[in-house]
Amino acid sequence: MAKVLAWCVLLFVALARPLPSSKGEMRVYEKRDSAPRNFAASGVTSADHVISLRFGLAQSNFPGLEKALYEVSTPGRPQYGQHLSKAEVEEFIRPSSETVSAVDDWLASHGLTATPLSPAGDWLAVNVTVDQANSILDAQYTNFTHVDTGRQAIRTLSYSLPASLDGHVTFVHPTTAFPRSTVRHDVLYPRSFNTGADQSATNTSSCASAITPACLQAMYNIPSTPATQPTNQLAVTGFVEQYANEADLEVSSLLRNLIMVSGISSTNFTVQTINGGQNPQSQTQAGSEADLDV
Ligand SMILES: *[C@@H]1O[C@H](CO)[C@@H](O)[C@H](O)[C@H]1NC(C)=O
Ligand SMILES: *[C@@H]1O[C@H](CO)[C@@H](O)[C@H](O)[C@H]1NC(C)=O
Ligand SMILES: *[C@@H]1O[C@H](CO)[C@@H](O)[C@H](O)[C@H]1NC(C)=O
Ligand SMILES: *[C@@H]1O[C@H](CO)[C@@H](O)[C@H](O)[C@H]1NC(C)=O
Repeated sequence: MAKVLAWCVLLFVALARPLPSSKGEMRVYEKRDSAPRNFAASGVTSADHVISLRFGLAQSNFPGLEKALYEVSTPGRPQYGQHLSKAEVEEFIRPSSETVSAVDDWLASHGLTATPLSPAGDWLAVNVTVDQANSILDAQYTNFTHVDTGRQAIRTLSYSLPASLDGHVTFVHPTTAFPRSTVRHDVLYPRSFNTGADQSATNTSSCASAITPACLQAMYNIPSTPATQPTNQLAVTGFVEQYANEADLEVSSLLRNLIMVSGISSTNFTVQTINGGQNPQSQTQAGSEADLDV
């Protein structure tokens, strides 16, 4: 009987224990053996330096979002063309309340409060000193310098998260991911392509040696019949210093074909920048990829 009682007491103690505290078991979450070549460690970052730590939270229903996107994008489906609203997308990616509490509780146990960084709350940010970051993440933040550009990056080669965050946090930044060491700007210059049979949308025999707009049109099944819907629009996204260049519209017959088959009458684009984005137009800053990110 005493044994059973002892058991019950033990069980009660176990159940009554607060949920994992700041002392919860830490597990290495990401780790790399060394910085990428071209980055040299230039000293341990001073303890009072403030960094903005960002946390990616598990999205509640990414598979649902993927399915919904296919439904609205696949011709013949009942939902075809019924695009999701921003609010509908946010519902799919909003982290569950368990995820939000797990992360909030852990940060609170360290006296920290994060601020949502994205509309759906799947990104959180908190300003911490390097001392705090090292302590809560079992990290060692170090200054790294890019040997060619002198660009500084404050990173750690490994960090840990408590077991209580398993499945709730997808990643933490800045940690082990370094900035891309070089940004290549491949400038596109106008080139005349041979015209004739090899430019036909179906002749792909030369595509193994040279990619032409005709190759892309054939490989991606871009139709050649113009669409008739005058309200059609194409969006060209620009990320990571890839800028859509107006001059490239003249160069790229693929784009012109796309514009033509989309039924769009304009041969120009309007620029919408968000969050301080830019779209410089100098030829040296034109991105070889940007105009194709349609
Ligand atoms: C580390 O980088 C920060 C931010 O660039 C800078 O303020 C600090 O002086 C650097 N510390 C060392 C040891 O290089
Ligand atoms: C972090 O500090 C910067 C600069 O003071 C501020 O602009 C930003 O809003 C702060 N971020 C958070 C999440 O508190
Ligand atoms: C396809 O293009 C090649 C040249 O790249 C040409 O030799 C060939 O005759 C063309 N085939 C057809 C069916 O037009
Ligand atoms: C496209 O629009 C921009 C500004 O909106 C203008 O500067 C440029 O000249 C236009 N290009 C053409 C080909 O019309």
